Parts: sequence; structure tokens; C-alpha cells
Amino acid sequence: MSDTAGAGEADVHSVAAEALDAVRRSDDLDQLDEVRVRYLGRNGRLNGFLRSIGKLGDAEARRQMGQTVQALAERVREALEERRAELQAGDSDDEPLDLTRPAPRLRRGRAHPVTIAITEIGRIFAELGYAAISGPEVEYDRYNFTLVNQPPGHPARDSHDTFYIDDQRLLRTHTSPVQIRSMVQRGAPQRVIVPGKVFRRDYDATHLPMFHQVEGLCIDQGIAVSDLKGTLEYFARSFFGPDARARWRPHHFPFTEPSLEMELACVVCGGSGCTVCGRTGWLELLGCGMVHPDVLRNGGIDPDRYTGFAFGMGPERAAMLAYGIPDIRLLYENDVRFLRPMP
Ligand code: PHE
Repeated sequence: MSDTAGAGEADVHSVAAEALDAVRRSDDLDQLDEVRVRYLGRNGRLNGFLRSIGKLGDAEARRQMGQTVQALAERVREALEERRAELQAGDSDDEPLDLTRPAPRLRRGRAHPVTIAITEIGRIFAELGYAAISGPEVEYDRYNFTLVNQPPGHPARDSHDTFYIDDQRLLRTHTSPVQIRSMVQRGAPQRVIVPGKVFRRDYDATHLPMFHQVEGLCIDQGIAVSDLKGTLEYFARSFFGPDARARWRPHHFPFTEPSLEMELACVVCGGSGCTVCGRTGWLELLGCGMVHPDVLRNGGIDPDRYTGFAFGMGPERAAMLAYGIPDIRLLYENDVRFLRPMP
């Protein structure tokens, strides 16, 4: 099958997602059988990946790909069986209820991948002395925008496409307003992270109207860009494994100066380019920078005595990268066949 030549893990995942979707949408046993042949048959799409394995460079990549395909095929097979049982049960509505049949096996639940990611991020920063705090999801315009250097009329306000509640209140578009709240409450020095929900008017394969952020803030005397980089590179190795490689790109945020973006060598292809990283080899992980002196001042901290860095990362993104999940919407469709096997 030439269309799967050189296919990556992400392609296998999206074909498996397609298969699960087709299983769910089958209304009768004939349709279900067609789905089985199309995806699991000898010339089926999943087997196509097995045939293309020979084209993969090293033995380790071949072994990994083989395992992924087998695991996903197994999941599709399970889904087919479940759907077949459902359809057959539906066919025989008139049969008397057999109270002696054994009950279906109960499965133990587990934490959602995003919850796992947030917990793990929290654990790593707790070791570095960061306290985890929270702030309101319904926030004042003043905190969300004005006090972080985006006064009325600032162009960044429209790019955010905000859910407004009234003239003064909105659903926060980021966790950065909690920087101000924390500075006012805690003063300096301080180290905090802020996990929480944020809201934007967006919806496609990589954007949701509600998602999570983990904000980080470190303020002390003499904090420099090197502290920022060292901390976040340490974080990346702790979270993604010792081989995680980062690169830094200049960026712009109104509330940090200078501002940077941290990218990670693609965890799926290792940097050679695949569909997950859009063939660039790099994945955007977070935005960060040195806290702008005006923002420190707005939080009641003297920028001549203290400096600090801040960052904002997306745990959905981190979970997608860590588990090779190709479509952010899978995280919120609550299909237990996807959620159950997450390590
Ligand atoms: N608030 C920024 C965003 O939502 C992320 C960020 C946080 C950038 C802190 C720099 C410092 O995109």
C-alpha cells in the first residue's frame, strides 16, 4: 500500500480514530462487517502500516511502529466486538430478559490525560519550590488585560476573541491575570504556578473554546533569562524524558520583555519532520519572558529591586505531545477507548 509508505505514528493514530468513529456509526451488522474488512482485513488500512514497516530505518523504530499498530488494531477489534454485541442485543428486543446472565465486567476508572499532565507539571514545579495557587475564571477586564499591559484599544484585545460577560467582566483568556493577584497578595520574592481553565472563541483540530494553562511566576532579586531557560529546560527533561531537546525563539507578549517561545524537538519523529509537527521537526510548547517592569509595578513590586520571569504552558498540548494524540478534540470527546489506554 503505497499511501502508507513512510507513515508515522500520528498517521496510525488518525486511521485508528477514523476506524473507531466508523464502528460507532455502524447501524447494522453488514455495515459493521464492512468496517472490519476495511480496517482490520488482510488488505485493510491498519495492515497497510505493518507492510510499510520494512521501509522504516532502524530496528527500534520498526519495533515501536509494530507495537503501536498491534495495540491500536486490538482496540479497534474490541470496539467492533462491543458494537456487534450492542447491535445483536438491539435485534432481539423481544427475547425475555435473562436474569442469570453474568453482569458485564466493571472497569476501574483513571485520571483524564489532561489531569495527569497538570498533576505531573505541579509535581515537578513543587520540587523546585513553587506553590500551586488558583484564580477566578470569571475575571475583571482590568486584570485580564489592563494590568498586564493591554489597555483598552490595545490590538491584543481583539486577537484574543474574548467571551465577555458585561462591560467589566469576562471569562479569562489566559492565566496571566493571576500574576497580578499573586504579586499583590504575596509580594516578593515568590515562586508560584497557576493551573486553571481559560476560554477563547476558537474551535478546530488544535483549538478549543475551553482549555487549560499552567502559568508560572518567579520573582526575586537578580532573576535573569538564564534562570528562565534553565528552569524550563529542566522541566522539559523531567516531563518528556532526558532526551527532550528545546530551542528558543524570540516572540512578543505585552507583559514580558524580552519574550520567548520554547519549542521542543518533535516527540513523535525526533526532529526529522512528520505530520504532528507539520514537517518542521519542532513543536511549540510555551510562551514566556522576563516580567515587564510595568507589570511588576502594577502588582506593587519595585522593578528596581526585583526582577522575575513568567511562562504560560498548555497541559493539553503537553499531554498530546507526551502521548502522541493527533487531535485535541479527542481529549474532550470522552471516548473511554481512547482515554483508557493512556499510561
Ligand atoms: N499568557 C500568554 C498566552 O496566553 C502566555 C504567557 C504567559 C506568555 C506568561 C508569557 C508569560 O499566550
